[in-house]
Order: sequence, then structure tokens, then C-alpha cells
Amino acid sequence: MHLSFNVRIALLGATGAVGTELLELLQSRNFPLADLKLLASPRSAGRTISFQGEDIPVEVVTEKSFDGIDIVLASAGGGTSKTWASIAVEQGAVVIDNSSAFRMNPDVPLVIPEVNPEAAATHQGIIANPNCTTILMAMAVWPLHQVQPVQRIIAATYQSASGAGMRAMEEVKAQARAILQGETPPTECFPYPLAFNLFPHNTPMNEQGYCEEEMKMVNETRKIFNAPQIKISATCVRVPVLRAHSEAINLEFAQPMPVAKAREILANAAGVQLVEDWEANYFPMPIDATGRDEVLVGRIRQDLSHPCGLELWLCGDQVRKGAALNAVQIAELLVARNWLKPKTATVVH
Ligand code: A2P
Repeated sequence: MHLSFNVRIALLGATGAVGTELLELLQSRNFPLADLKLLASPRSAGRTISFQGEDIPVEVVTEKSFDGIDIVLASAGGGTSKTWASIAVEQGAVVIDNSSAFRMNPDVPLVIPEVNPEAAATHQGIIANPNCTTILMAMAVWPLHQVQPVQRIIAATYQSASGAGMRAMEEVKAQARAILQGETPPTECFPYPLAFNLFPHNTPMNEQGYCEEEMKMVNETRKIFNAPQIKISATCVRVPVLRAHSEAINLEFAQPMPVAKAREILANAAGVQLVEDWEANYFPMPIDATGRDEVLVGRIRQDLSHPCGLELWLCGDQVRKGAALNAVQIAELLVARNWLKPKTATVVH
């Protein structure tokens, strides 16, 4: 039996960095689309976006936008998701939300299809797409954790401008141009110049001195792995890379994890590519991860300071697996497993 769905999709935030990538992925992955609605803010009223040779108008999101929609792929920020998600769900849609608005809600599954696909089946209308740095780290850590339980993770991130959206990417380019011309760089999206600079992630700090981004890596990873006991600490840093994040990860296992074993596991892990040329000193780089679906992992080595410790380095496209690709994979999962509302399904024998 083959299930064929006529899926009607609405992209909320269609004009943004993630929205643009969602459109590309729906096209390139031949997603079984019946209808596509592009939604954004009043700033985008009157715009059209080309999709499969057709100019589709960008509509300003309203209460009527979700009528007849099966899946909303939302990437317009937490405030916008909070405003519109429940309205979309009331109208019968499943919302796959890229913002942090619902991720830690116990009634909302937080899903990485390669890690916890079954969680998607429990949705009550909203499925949360995890934070980008969390997804990239989980892709490398989960396959190892399956073989030998991880007890503690220490992560340092090197995060690109794309995590702050399209305007932030443009700002970094404008900053670079300004600095090279001896002018003052513009700082509208970021608090400080990012070009030729770096700074700790600019999300609010808690009283323990951890920023929101760091706490997302802690709390979301535990939820996705269903492993509240894992100890995690992270330092998140923005770096002047346009897109694709990098992460240095230190893992402490319950028992020693031989490097050769870790390499073998990661070489065979779904959505992961092992990139290591020790002689050429060639390892994952954001420039190589950009536009790629896989998370690139390398520099796997024994932690000299701990017999059960392992060091690794990874790069992944923040806009792609860190956001849009993961969301489309969740949508594909819902369709393939018939976890959408049955009314939308046409069963083809
Ligand atoms: P718009 O282009 O009309 O502002 P990015 O993360 O790259 O900055 O993109 C954010 C996306 O979210 C854009 O598509 C943006 O649309 C959309 N967006 C932002 N605020 C709203 C809002 N209040 N209502 C609907 N869409 C919004």
C-alpha cells in the first residue's frame, strides 16, 4: 500500500532565510505538494516569489490564512508563532514550528527525524523543530550515545550570522565593506560588529551566567534524547561566518569509547559525513558544510584528560539541517507514516 497525500502547505515567514531554504527544499525533494501558500508580514505585501516556474504572491498572514492548510511550516520568530500557531491548529493544520516558542512545552514533541521520529506521532497539532546548534550536536552525539551512553557533554560553538536571519547576514557583509573602506560598520541586528570580530551569543543571560542559546543546547538535547540525566554545559559564540555553524564537542562516556569505534559509528550514521584527512590537516569547515544536508564530523580523538573522554569537531549548515531541512523531514515523516489528519489522505493501493 502506498499512501499519497495531497498536502497543502503554508510557509509562515516565506521571505526569510529559513523560508527561502524551505522553498528550495520543497522543490528539490519533490515534496508531494497540492498547494503552497506564502505568508509573511505586511512588509512583504505585494511581493511574489518564483516557485516551480510560477510567481506566487506573498500574502500578509491573517486569521483566514490557514483555511484548508494541512501543514504550516513556521519560521517567522517566536512571537509570530505564538500568535498564529493555535489559530492554525484550530483550523485543522499541523504546525511545524522553527521558533523556540513551544520547544520545552511537555505537550509538544521536539523532533529530529534521525533521532526521535516516534515522538512526532504524539503531536497535538504542534511539532517543534529544535534549535540549530542543538540539532547539529545531536546528529553527531546520538549515534554514539546509542552504542555507549554519554554522561556529560561540553560544547563550544562557533555560530554564523545566518542564525540571526537574512538581515543579519546582509549586515555582516555591509560591516565588512564598511570596515575595509575605513567607515563605521552598521550594527542594527547585532549589538557589536561581527565582521572581523566575534562575541558571546547575544541572547539574554540567566542568573548563572548562561545565555538562552546555551540553555537550549542543555534542555533541548535532554528532551530529544529523553535523557534528563545527561550533564551538559555549552559556550555559544557568534563568529563572522555567513552560514553553517561549527562546534567543538567533548563527550564523557560511561565506559571508554575507542576512537576507531566512534569513527566507524559516525561513518555509518544517517545524516552524518565523516570528514578527516589527518595528513592534509583537512577537517570540517563551514564553507564546505554550506548548502549540504549532512553534518560534517571529524577530528575525532581521545580526550587526553579523561579515559572515557572523546573530542570531536563538527560543522553543519544552520539554515539547512539546523532548520529548514529538519522541518521538511518532519513534514515528510508525517506524510509517510500517516501521522497527519486522515481526512487529507488519499489511499492508493
Ligand atoms: P517579512 O520579510 O515580511 O518581514 P529572517 O529570520 O530571515 O529575518 O526572516 C523572518 C521571516 O519572518 C520573514 O519572512 C518575515 O517576513 C517573517 N515575519 C517577521 N515578523 C512577522 C510577522 N509579525 N508576521 C508574519 N511574518 C513575519
